[in-house]
Amino acid sequence: MLLEVRNLTKSFGGFVAVANVDLDIREGEVRGIIGPNGSGKSTLFNLISGVYKPDAGARVTFDGTDITGHESHAIARRGIARTFQMLRIFQGMSVIENMLVGHHAMIRYGTAAAVIGARKVWHEERRVRAEMLEMLAFIGLADYADMPAGELSGGQRRLLALGRAMAAKPKLLMLDEPGAGLSPTNVDVLMEAVRALQQRFGLTVIIIEHILKLVMETCGTVSVLEHGEKIAEGTPAQIKDDHRVIEAYLGKEMRDDQVRAYLRSA
Ligand SMILES: Nc1ncnc2c1ncn2[C@@H]1O[C@H](COP(=O)(O)OP(=O)(O)OP(=O)(O)O)[C@@H](O)[C@H]1O
Ligand SMILES: [Mg+2]
Repeated sequence: MLLEVRNLTKSFGGFVAVANVDLDIREGEVRGIIGPNGSGKSTLFNLISGVYKPDAGARVTFDGTDITGHESHAIARRGIARTFQMLRIFQGMSVIENMLVGHHAMIRYGTAAAVIGARKVWHEERRVRAEMLEMLAFIGLADYADMPAGELSGGQRRLLALGRAMAAKPKLLMLDEPGAGLSPTNVDVLMEAVRALQQRFGLTVIIIEHILKLVMETCGTVSVLEHGEKIAEGTPAQIKDDHRVIEAYLGKEMRDDQVRAYLRSA
């Protein structure tokens, strides 16, 4: 397994946001995480990426290394990149500069400069710039490289958030509601970019998403959270037939045929 999560729990005061979650993510898979508002999806990402420290008893292993409780920058350097539910684009900076920020998060240039000298650093910068331009081409933003990020459309900003996470060349990419606020067309463009990146770089991807259709089309396995607990896991087809899943969403008793109708139309 690329990522193994065991007994992951996080309480805020007396409130348990994530409760005893186990998760196994295979290298190369695209995993979906779904669940109603407040079910602990973003908190799960915050725990895996080191934004929050889990409660005692948890173990998170990534690529064979125990990363439980490590700092977020150390976890990022090991190859886990993520996007945030709230966009964190530097509006005043150009598209390519935003990409370079994503890349620099990985590399300590101060140390590099001391060891290899300023001239080589300049060459290194040029090489990285070329690499970032190639990545922008991959997500369809190469023509906008020098445009201020604040002038991009909503859909383009989401693509840039994806590109910036990819700039660090991660092994595992975690996307928190990448389709939020996008038109159906832009959602398709974004998911196409995710699939292309996944195939090109052999990426492993975890996607939190409210748009069920998107998860169902893209993910091999879907895990479902409710009140911080993992209540179901399986292929999209299995999840579509899971009564607890739809009840979690709608919070009421439904007949099986109503459940299926809902999930298939989603
Ligand atoms: N830093 C925090 N302090 C206190 N409570 C928090 C904190 N972060 C999250 N929570 C609570 O934990 C619960 C889970 O929140 P989380 O953001 O993980 O849900 P989510 O599944 O991502 O929801 P959404 O679909 O709305 O994004 C919520 O009740 C939230 O209020
Ligand atoms: Mg969330």
